[in-house]
Amino acid sequence: MFDGKTILITGGTGSFGKKYTETLLSRYKPKRIIIYSRDELKQFDMGQDYNDPCMRYMIGDVRDKERLVQACDGVDYIIHAAALKQVPAAEYNPMECINTNIRGAENVIHAAIKCGIKKVIALSTDKAANPINLYGATKLASDKMFVAANNMVGRRETRFAVVRYGNVVGSRGSVVPFFEKRVAEGADHLPITDADMTRFWISLQDGVDFVLKNFERMHGGEVFVPKIPSIRVTDLASAIAPNLEQRIIGIRPGEKLHEIMCPADDSHLTVEFEDHYVLSPSIKFYDAEVSYDKNCLGEVGKPVGRGFEYNSGTNPHFLTVDEIASFNKAAMA
Ligand SMILES: NC(=O)c1ccc[n+]([C@@H]2O[C@H](COP(=O)([O-])OP(=O)(O)OC[C@H]3O[C@@H](n4cnc5c(N)ncnc54)[C@H](OP(=O)(O)O)[C@@H]3O)[C@@H](O)[C@H]2O)c1
Repeated sequence: MFDGKTILITGGTGSFGKKYTETLLSRYKPKRIIIYSRDELKQFDMGQDYNDPCMRYMIGDVRDKERLVQACDGVDYIIHAAALKQVPAAEYNPMECINTNIRGAENVIHAAIKCGIKKVIALSTDKAANPINLYGATKLASDKMFVAANNMVGRRETRFAVVRYGNVVGSRGSVVPFFEKRVAEGADHLPITDADMTRFWISLQDGVDFVLKNFERMHGGEVFVPKIPSIRVTDLASAIAPNLEQRIIGIRPGEKLHEIMCPADDSHLTVEFEDHYVLSPSIKFYDAEVSYDKNCLGEVGKPVGRGFEYNSGTNPHFLTVDEIASFNKAAMA
């Protein structure tokens, strides 16, 4: 599907963008891959490793609508990965988070419609489901905007969908590099926010593969959620440093004990497929009657029961300490 096509990745120098680029280059023959982000040094560094003739690096901010329109010229598909994603930073700098995650989403939608892009997938997070922190709230607003954008396209064929998933093993600023750094520095304990805390757990490659697949599945208007395992944070610490003391430091501002990907209040909209869920849109689209229980690949899903919630604490699939160790090793190889 990406052979001979031009793909724009906002936030392309981030953890996701680099893995997505690597995967596109190894499996397809794209015409162009455009990396769109702000920091020239990250682009320079990425350019050392990803220097295929199809690669283009554009400095630009998603807050800059005109620059985005320029970047979208001739583009077939967009993956919108640019975001501010650190929960504490968002709490302390709310307007910055709103400008990047909400205004930036608005600009991506504007540019995509104006340039007649075929399909757009925006990355979301479990923190957008029943959000309690500003980061999650901005991503929920962004999700809603991308869903509603399918109604703003007029006669154009541009379609928008969202992919929502949980903690990516080893991504920049996440818990695994944090724990590993402490171990490498000879710390005498690992800080644990709460002994009962659980998280959804996904490898970057699985996240990338899920997004790739959903470009083929999407009608437009879906929030795609992969079925993935959960971990207990205490088990994660044991997997990384089996003999180190774990010290409880208390839950941090804006943190949940468990994460949710499909809220119970959305159960009437949720369709279960073999390896994923789809939250179908709560609004009707003007131009088409789409049935979200069958996707464009012909896969068929079934509605979940009333009140169903996909929650990291009640997920039937938990990894053991040994499984976490091998999962992390494979994910970060
Ligand atoms: N990592 C996770 O655990 C996780 C889990 C669920 C969902 N997600 C979502 O997945 C997406 C990608 O995450 P990631 O882990 O790849 O993040 P990341 O490593 O922090 O990368 C973020 C990227 O966005 C760019 N960026 C930030 N602000 C920008 C702006 N105003 N304009 C243009 N580019 C901007 C950054 O480059 P510059 O700073 O140079 O601009 C960087 O390329 C995000 O939307 C995030 O919410 C991540």
